[in-house]
Amino acid sequence: MTAEDYRAASRESWGSAADVWARAADEPDSGASALAAEWMLAQAALKPGERVLELAAGAGRVGLQAASIVGPEGRVVCSDFAEAMVKAIRARSQSAGLSNLEARVLDAERLELGEDERFDAVLCRFGYMLMGDPAAALAESARALIPGGRLVLAVWGPGADNPWLMMILQAVMDHFGAPPPEPGTPGPFALGVEQRLEGLLTQAGFTEIAIERLETEQTYDSSDGWWDEITAIGGPLASVLGALPKPDFDAIRGTALAEAARFGRADGALTLPAAIIGAHGRRDYTTSRAGASPQRFSSR
Ligand SMILES: C[S@@+](CC[C@H](N)C(=O)[O-])C[C@H]1O[C@@H](n2cnc3c(N)ncnc32)[C@H](O)[C@@H]1O
Repeated sequence: MTAEDYRAASRESWGSAADVWARAADEPDSGASALAAEWMLAQAALKPGERVLELAAGAGRVGLQAASIVGPEGRVVCSDFAEAMVKAIRARSQSAGLSNLEARVLDAERLELGEDERFDAVLCRFGYMLMGDPAAALAESARALIPGGRLVLAVWGPGADNPWLMMILQAVMDHFGAPPPEPGTPGPFALGVEQRLEGLLTQAGFTEIAIERLETEQTYDSSDGWWDEITAIGGPLASVLGALPKPDFDAIRGTALAEAARFGRADGALTLPAAIIGAHGRRDYTTSRAGASPQRFSSR
């Protein structure tokens, strides 16, 4: 699959999951997502009046919170490359009565911003590891920032520390005899190694880099509830499973549920560990950087 094919397939599958994301966003954030958002907003230390860009925002959960913090004098561009996600952001922003949030279709790997459009902070929760070229996306993020601007992100830690998702992916791989993905292949755990993330941030020109591992648990009412939620919300996973003949689907589901039983509680609920890597850094204070050619921004 070429990089372009990957990007198109990813955009389509995430777009197909947008309704699920929009419905989920009506409920309060919980588990690892809530922890990641709380950590990111604490590190970003946004101030009233600041300009914020959220990338790969899904239904815009973090961006909507940021908009409340920066207030009417500030501005948030909340973006995703899947148009259906951006529609969900717009609808949520309108019903929250936010006049300082703009929902915009943007590919984080090739940001098309206005010529003079720069931000005090870029936020991205659970996005960069899914991108075909995270190095390009981080370089684009640096260029979107003012000198000294802050990037704050969260990605998933290693698969072994995230059984809430890994058990399903492993069941799919085992069923088809597929080898584990090559290091560097985009996917939920692609940036789960701190050194890789740090290298990419450094290469993109960030300074004052800090990386922190956060651990939590996710609880589901039942193992069926766990399976239904994760397989619906994971865009590419939902696409893969949705295209399978029933016997394959049932076999994978059976394997994953059997594996999950070890996390079952007496009341039937499942409590599964989750590990996040949070990172932040600053764009350097110089106005010109290698690779930061302003003409790569196009006016819209
Ligand atoms: C796992 S979801 C996370 C959504 C949201 N950040 C959250 O934490 O609730 C990943 C999102 O990344 C988006 N995405 C993936 N690659 C992207 C890219 N190159 N540019 C912009 N968005 C991208 C998908 O469309 C999807 O909405």
